[in-house]
Amino acid sequence: MNVLDCIKTRRSIRKYKDKPIPQDIIDKVIKCGQMAPSAHNTQPWAFVVVKDKKKLEKLSQTHQWAPFVKDAQLCIVLCCTKTQEINKSAMHMSVACAAQNMLLAIHNFELGSCWTYVHDLKDSSVEQKVKKILEIPKDIDVICMLPIGYPDQTRSEKEIKSKEEVVHNEKW
Ligand SMILES: Cc1cc2nc3c(=O)[nH]c(=O)nc-3n(C[C@H](O)[C@H](O)[C@H](O)COP(=O)(O)O)c2cc1C
Repeated sequence: MNVLDCIKTRRSIRKYKDKPIPQDIIDKVIKCGQMAPSAHNTQPWAFVVVKDKKKLEKLSQTHQWAPFVKDAQLCIVLCCTKTQEINKSAMHMSVACAAQNMLLAIHNFELGSCWTYVHDLKDSSVEQKVKKILEIPKDIDVICMLPIGYPDQTRSEKEIKSKEEVVHNEKW
């Protein structure tokens, strides 16, 4: 798929078919995450790949906006390893770049996913639950989850804000 078409047609997919995903596609999706830009090229990401149905079920119960995680073939949990760096937010933003690369790669392979929230600066309760389920060490931050499966829903192209609303020329 052409990269511009991929960006234009990607949507969050929350309904998945019960159809296995070849391992080489999962490997390619992760590699696309690794190709993302990162602050000082620190590549501060780590990926926990979850296929176990019981764990998917537990992850889907970590908050009210995650129920579809249980129906995915697998879920990739994106973590940040460089949590002791001075500019922690740059490390988190780098992991977000990896997530977007992966969402586009997933769509390219005609799979579906949805950024599922975990990290919250004000309330770490969801993150603590995910860390407990997956035995993630204390010094690692969990940023988000990407459940993946073959789409069982079709979504039309998204309506976006007008250019006038979002673009400022030369000054605000
Ligand atoms: C930081 C962030 C957190 C999100 N958290 C959730 C979530 O927990 N559950 C969910 O269903 N969607 C979540 N989403 C997906 C958004 O709802 C979705 O991207 C938005 O509605 C736009 O739709 P689109 O992805 O189809 O373009 C999240 C997206 C972002 C970027």
